[in-house]
Amino acid sequence: MQIVFGIDFGTTNSALSVYQNGTVEVVAVDGTESGGELMRSVLYFNEEHEVFAGHEAIHQYVSDGAVGRFMQSIKTFLPNTSFVTTEIFGKRYTIDDLVAIILRKIKARGEAHVGCSVESVVMGRPVVFSKDAAKDAVAEQRLEKAARKAGFKNIWFQYEPVAAALTFEESLKPGEERVVFIGDFGGGTSDFSVIRVKGGAFDRSDRRSDVLSLGGVYVAGDKFDSQIMWDKVAHHFGRYARYKTMGKDDWNSIPKSIIYTLCQWHRIPLLRARKTRELIRVIKGTADDRRAIEHLENIISDNYGFFLFQAIEKAKCELSGQEMTRIDFKDRDLNITEELSREEFETLNGDNFQQIASCIDEVVSKSGLQTAQIDTVFLTGGTSRIPLIQALFTERFGRGKLEQRNAFTSVVHGLGSSVPLFV
Ligand SMILES: Nc1ncnc2c1ncn2[C@@H]1O[C@H](COP(=O)(O)OP(=O)(O)OP(=O)(O)O)[C@@H](O)[C@H]1O
Ligand SMILES: [Mg+2]
Repeated sequence: MQIVFGIDFGTTNSALSVYQNGTVEVVAVDGTESGGELMRSVLYFNEEHEVFAGHEAIHQYVSDGAVGRFMQSIKTFLPNTSFVTTEIFGKRYTIDDLVAIILRKIKARGEAHVGCSVESVVMGRPVVFSKDAAKDAVAEQRLEKAARKAGFKNIWFQYEPVAAALTFEESLKPGEERVVFIGDFGGGTSDFSVIRVKGGAFDRSDRRSDVLSLGGVYVAGDKFDSQIMWDKVAHHFGRYARYKTMGKDDWNSIPKSIIYTLCQWHRIPLLRARKTRELIRVIKGTADDRRAIEHLENIISDNYGFFLFQAIEKAKCELSGQEMTRIDFKDRDLNITEELSREEFETLNGDNFQQIASCIDEVVSKSGLQTAQIDTVFLTGGTSRIPLIQALFTERFGRGKLEQRNAFTSVVHGLGSSVPLFV
């Protein structure tokens, strides 16, 4: 009897399902976390070269006083061909080494659950890792390599929104047929598919002809957080500071690239490069807002970007349920309190929402159908909780067509349901 795992390695959260005897079960993968179904896709290395994943990583990072190396949104590095290795306390890691650590842990959890070793896995992948086909292929190869390093021998890939569609299909009555628009809004990517689904006995045939269109865009939860950082918080770190170069009287703006990197929290460690730190030190010498530049130095050296972004993310999530919130954050003499309304959040992310909206229209148009011919819109993923995301669909399809369930597990469940398509 064959057991196959389904693994949704997400930008923010990862999850596991087990396919066994024709049924699929979602298995808690990070027992220490509340709920436990999901594992945060994060890693923490301490100076003794011990590595922790998921909740343990966050716990250890916090209790060590944020001294080691903490990594999140690792999935977004997969298509980045300029990222070859990273050095952590003198040891080199490739991107697939890092992903393998997380996959190995998930695999072990699953094996403890089923009581035997498992060598086959269906891995989820976004529809678009990168617009560049070569980079997209690199991303999938790296993910496959990671799965191999984690100990899997048979590895298949399924598109994340197609997996979500298979989960949705299971809620239909036998014989009930629908054309569904699937929207999976995660941390790194928003993935879409128009797909024909049918309730009843699971269809083991190749489902490719049921997929009418696929598409995706690299704009999701992380981008919204970055945008809040850019517009509401980055001024505390010198976004508008000016400085003078030696012997000249003109004011210069701080290089945009520094602030831009600061706004993608998982890239903040890149600012530790000697050249950049030296430049920041020089800027501080003549800056008109010296305190802001000191905060910039502190966030780089003290590595507290994670906590700052947690405060930002918390505010963003609150705005899904209320009109007004506040970003609160303190560190040494830094004291951030920024009011943020839902309306302002929507305005400052206008361009991001626009990119998502265009991609939705493109995927509908590629399907060859009119919106009226699409029966249901099924939304999943944490970011689908944002009211404006839902509004993008009610505007186009009408309120009655929207369905939302299992924001965090419909993809992983569907990866398990995909097993008969491959095995
Ligand atoms: N209530 C909420 N309102 C807005 N955003 C939310 C809410 N809850 C969670 N999120 C966001 O959802 C994202 C995580 O969702 P999810 O777990 O579906 O992503 P993922 O699967 O890890 O990412 P991806 O599929 O892109 O690889 C985070 O960006 C998080 O901030
Ligand atoms: Mg996801």
